[in-house]
Amino acid sequence: MCGIVGYIGHRDAYPIIIKGLQRLEYRGYDSAGIALFDGSDINLSKTKGKVEHLKKKAEESMSLKGGLGIGHTRWATHGIPNDENSHPHISNSGDLVIVHNGIIENYESIKKELTKRGYNFHSDTDTEVLVNLIEEVKKKEDVKLGHAVQIALSEVVGAYAIAIIDRNKPDEIVVAKLGSPLAIGVGENEFFIASDASPFIEYTNNAVYLADEEMAIVRLGKEIKLRKIKDDAIAYPNIMELKLNIEEIEKGGYDHFMLKEIYEQPRAILDTYRGRLNVDQGLIKMAGIDDNLERFMNADRIIIVACGTSWHAGLVAEYIFEDLARIPVEVEYASEFRYRNPVITDKDVVIAISQSGETADTLAAIKLAKANGAFVFGVCNVVGSSIARETDAGAYTHAGPEIGVASTKAFTTQITVLTLVALKLAKEKGVFPESKYHEFLIELESIPSKVERALESNALVEIIAEVHKNATNCLYLGRGYNFPVALEGALKLKEISYIHAEGYPAAEMKHGPIALIDQQMPVFVIATKKGHYDKVVSNIQEIKSRKGKIIAIVTEGDSQVKELADHVIEVPETIESLTPLLTTIPLQLLSYHIAVMRGCNVDQPRNLAKSVTVE
Ligand code: AGP
Repeated sequence: MCGIVGYIGHRDAYPIIIKGLQRLEYRGYDSAGIALFDGSDINLSKTKGKVEHLKKKAEESMSLKGGLGIGHTRWATHGIPNDENSHPHISNSGDLVIVHNGIIENYESIKKELTKRGYNFHSDTDTEVLVNLIEEVKKKEDVKLGHAVQIALSEVVGAYAIAIIDRNKPDEIVVAKLGSPLAIGVGENEFFIASDASPFIEYTNNAVYLADEEMAIVRLGKEIKLRKIKDDAIAYPNIMELKLNIEEIEKGGYDHFMLKEIYEQPRAILDTYRGRLNVDQGLIKMAGIDDNLERFMNADRIIIVACGTSWHAGLVAEYIFEDLARIPVEVEYASEFRYRNPVITDKDVVIAISQSGETADTLAAIKLAKANGAFVFGVCNVVGSSIARETDAGAYTHAGPEIGVASTKAFTTQITVLTLVALKLAKEKGVFPESKYHEFLIELESIPSKVERALESNALVEIIAEVHKNATNCLYLGRGYNFPVALEGALKLKEISYIHAEGYPAAEMKHGPIALIDQQMPVFVIATKKGHYDKVVSNIQEIKSRKGKIIAIVTEGDSQVKELADHVIEVPETIESLTPLLTTIPLQLLSYHIAVMRGCNVDQPRNLAKSVTVE
């Protein structure tokens, strides 16, 4: 996610803002910038790269004076990481300058309208459109900045946290929030603006957190007044006294980044389909597919290449593509694919999945596929990463930076993107009934709230983790769409708790693994109502008759498995193809709690790196 820092007060803004941006580096970013008002003009410097680069560039090129300024660390969503796309962005007149964290979904239509009115754009970002929309409203309605922001924001669709200043009104900063976090630090005759409290906690622990659709005009010497963007209602700020330390703030109050990222999944899934899924119009809009539809429609097959958790997401995609779009799919470990001299033709579409966009084996597999004429589509979480640049087209997950080595929100957002692609192709091919298609879109839109409900099992999962934290071996079983989830659950446990675990198709038990079952063996079985439920129940009975310990992930209200299992964890009901987005949640929590109980380093497990950039 991007990071915002602003300051207005009696001190020099520059050092406060730079240090504040460094405090926000943990959020992950690819460029940074700062704008300062020196009493007569706005001075601005921004650059691709780290805050250190920005510091050097600013100190060589601009006046660092002034008690008013805003700064930004950018995690690219629209437009690759480069100097022009970095924030702050300045309006055409040069009067307004803005920093923004979020996604303006309808920025293209607004940009078209503003272009018609003579506005010019120097970047590919939605943010530059927003600052010029505010300028246009301010001019046309002849209103002050605060009112112009209010009118403009009622026209945009998306998520935002913004800070904006007007060089003709240098005694205020206007801020607004919807969907992305924004805090105001309240000092003695000074105010701080930031994405979280880490940039200002050393100056003040008094903070106001804006609620969604709230804005504020932060003016020196004045009380903060909050206003509802939609209806102008005035709200008086609740100034909280923070008792968090820096590290706790970076983790959003969670003990570990992994747990924070598990709980970010409802927002991450929403952000991933935001601007792509239009349920009312029954549309899925993905430029990477729309612009290359022929290649997908005429493909003999889809080959998915990935590693680790991303490979598990690829397995889920295999079931979805073949089930919905009737396209043959093969899923390959990138490390195997690149060396086994595979048959690849120009009728193949290769989908490369990678959170980091830097995994060496996946990158090599892409190059091999391209060298043999295949069309390569990337699904990455890091804009402008090597894989994103190497592939012919792609679609980003909008999970935000994933800091914990164990992939969690990357997995569910990869599945979300791949589900959108499969649905789009199924509709284009006319192989999916219209009524089922609409039902699917509605259900997909309900997933973030169902993930929230699945997360409510956390306390129960912690109790189960306590029972099994000393296991030496575990089995994970699933059928159909949930077979890849069983593999993923086993990987999660292995990589952060160091307990050996294996995932298997539930029906495979009879072909060997059932010999492992005894009273010491916890068996985690995904037994949701959809998809071969009765067969999974008989697998559970086979395990029970051999005294295995059974922990089942079931659909809410299940009573049959409850009679058989030692523990059941319920997840909401959904369409069979979407169950992985829910059944993976308790398994992520389980591995997290067991690892914590075993005193493991959850965010940086031994021997592992977040991105395997070497063979
Ligand atoms: C999963 O929890 C691990 N972090 C690992 O398996 C990871 O999924 C794999 O290394 C692939 O990384 P990528 O998605 O960045 O390519």
